[in-house]
Amino acid sequence: MSNDDILRVKDLRVRFPLKRTGFGKRDYLYAVDGVSFNLKRGETLAIVGESGSGKTTTALTIARLQKAFSGSVQLGDIDLLALKGAELRDMRNRMQFIFQDPYSSLNPRLRAEDIVREPLDNQNRMPAEQRDARVEELFSAVGLRPEQRRLFPHQFSGGQRQRIGIARALATNPDLIICDEPVSALDVAVQAQILNLLRRLQTDLGLTYLFISHDLGVVQHMCDHVAVMYKGKIVEYADRLTLFNHPQHDYTKALLAAVPSVASALRQG
Ligand SMILES: Nc1ncnc2c1ncn2[C@@H]1O[C@H](COP(=O)(O)OP(=O)(O)OP(=O)(O)O)[C@@H](O)[C@H]1O
Ligand SMILES: [Mg+2]
Repeated sequence: MSNDDILRVKDLRVRFPLKRTGFGKRDYLYAVDGVSFNLKRGETLAIVGESGSGKTTTALTIARLQKAFSGSVQLGDIDLLALKGAELRDMRNRMQFIFQDPYSSLNPRLRAEDIVREPLDNQNRMPAEQRDARVEELFSAVGLRPEQRRLFPHQFSGGQRQRIGIARALATNPDLIICDEPVSALDVAVQAQILNLLRRLQTDLGLTYLFISHDLGVVQHMCDHVAVMYKGKIVEYADRLTLFNHPQHDYTKALLAAVPSVASALRQG
């Protein structure tokens, strides 16, 4: 553990009750089953794994949007799972989400500028003109034009909508940005644009990402470390080069074989 760790997750467990069959004790599904990792400021940790492996549940629990059963989560020196009330609301500005589906994650009744400004309005720390200036700056940072500010979500393409989601996530200068499958709903050409944007923003602003994907191909250019999740557990954790060049776990090898570009590179040795 080092002092630059912005996020420390220790032995996290999240469980959901299963349907009771007969009179026995209630059974539980441990969707997250003893997950531990640290994430350094300015770095990206990718969590990869098949559908249902517990990636989203891990992320939601870190963000206090899902209840943990046990374990601990620290953001800087704050014990996240212990926060209540006003402290919890304050913390929410320090951590932002970019969701998979830019169609359903943006409020269709709000204009783009209001969607991006909303976290600043909730935080209520800046005077109104300053918030407007910040929105203008964010539009330019994510490659949206100033005249698009007053449009509604349905008037944007999928990639542009994801840019709105990114601008919104950046608004409060969060310590941590959780990207949950941020490009899975986009065309391949648009995926590359959004991944490049996320990388450029990371370099320019020193962002820290927890980057969730079922696709190792998507994270191969995006991450410093990779945690491979399988049935609620991290079965392999390594830096990017080690994971791609010397995968240890059979499950990791299977995931790698599913990525065409990686699979052919592995075959060539
Ligand atoms: N609210 C819930 N109630 C009951 N079970 C749940 C709930 N949320 C998730 N689960 C279960 O927990 C497990 C992990 O789900 P999770 O959504 O975290 O997977 P994931 O890795 O994000 O999958 P995907 O790649 O499909 O998004 C699954 O078996 C899922 O059915
Ligand atoms: Mg998920």
